[in-house]
Amino acid sequence: MSKKTLVEAAFGRATDRTPIWFLRQAGRYLPEYRAIRKDIDFVGLCKNPALAAEVTLQPLRRFDVDAAIIFSDILIPCTAMGQHLTFDTGHGPILDHPIRSAQDLFKLRHPHVEKELGYVGDAITLTKKSLRPDQTMIGFAGAPFTVASYMIEGSGSKTFTEVKRLRYTQPQVFEELMELIAAVTSEYLLMQVKAGADCLMLFDTWANQMTAEDYRDLVFPHMNKVIETVKAKWDGPLIYYPGQSMEWLFELNGFHGDVLAIDWRTRLPRAIALIENLGLNVSVQGNLDPQSLLAPESLLRANVRKVLEAGQKARGHIFNVGHGLLPHTPPEALLIAIDEVRKFDKTKGSSH
Ligand code: CP3
Repeated sequence: MSKKTLVEAAFGRATDRTPIWFLRQAGRYLPEYRAIRKDIDFVGLCKNPALAAEVTLQPLRRFDVDAAIIFSDILIPCTAMGQHLTFDTGHGPILDHPIRSAQDLFKLRHPHVEKELGYVGDAITLTKKSLRPDQTMIGFAGAPFTVASYMIEGSGSKTFTEVKRLRYTQPQVFEELMELIAAVTSEYLLMQVKAGADCLMLFDTWANQMTAEDYRDLVFPHMNKVIETVKAKWDGPLIYYPGQSMEWLFELNGFHGDVLAIDWRTRLPRAIALIENLGLNVSVQGNLDPQSLLAPESLLRANVRKVLEAGQKARGHIFNVGHGLLPHTPPEALLIAIDEVRKFDKTKGSSH
């Protein structure tokens, strides 16, 4: 069986090309996605394995990418824990009965993951049938803190006031909520592995909303425990996205993952140098500014090359954007970015 390029790079092993995929490579910027979404709401789509697999595969029909990421959302497991999830156009996710007290926490359930979230596994199994052997099937979940922040706020937030209120006034409730989410998340990821995921990704988009000390003491340990639990039963690679700050790299002592996904606001060469100084033995993923896909072709190509050149210094590099693609992204721009990555590979380190 041919090796999976992304898995090899994630472990820092030599590859004949730089693996490339895009965060949110399925979604609203693709007309074929909008055509399916016209007749079904977002959560309904996530819960329908045949349609979720179809949407997952849409970008792979257009683009020569090295991975498929299962079409779902980090908040889907919250529905099995007892919160109702809706997406209000223009307002993002809404979770009802936000967790603000011990009573609220008590009402949450530890679900039977295979029974209640099995549709995600079914979608993975279906999707995988259409992948080439060298392509990687990525499963994912939100990291405990980022999921907790939506469960506590009940929606997205700019100030995370309710999260802070809970953390400062009822730290025990905060801690127990994190423990519950971490346990469910570990089972949820292992279910995805069982269904066929070759690689896992944990999204911690809002980790940067805590102080660095709180991140180290209250956020990181739960996230790292999830990785440790999953890795005790599986030998695949795991990618962690710690949101938009270099500060968290200082707090990753003892990190069990294999790849750090770097946000587009960070200078990739600096992140790689810091990773080395800190003795973190990881590959990197990233970190093109997703909005640079709006740039004229020559500028876009130059930006892609800059990321590729920086990536050469890492243990392994997976080319990607440094945050999800936005709905106004022109799909044709992805073809240019992919072409530049492939050209770079042919000249081994320089496409000038
Ligand atoms: O292609 C992929 O990357 C896989 C699918 C995926 C989605 N969400 C689909 C989605 C993944 C990996 C996510 C992760 C996710 N979801 C994160 C972490 C990554 C990040 O972006 O920081 C977060 C914070 C969420 C929560 C979430 N989901 C928000 C805030 C929103 C609304 C914002 C928006 O863009 O509308 C969503 C909705 C969502 N998740 C959409 C998609 C394709 C849009 C839904 C639609 O079709 O209307």
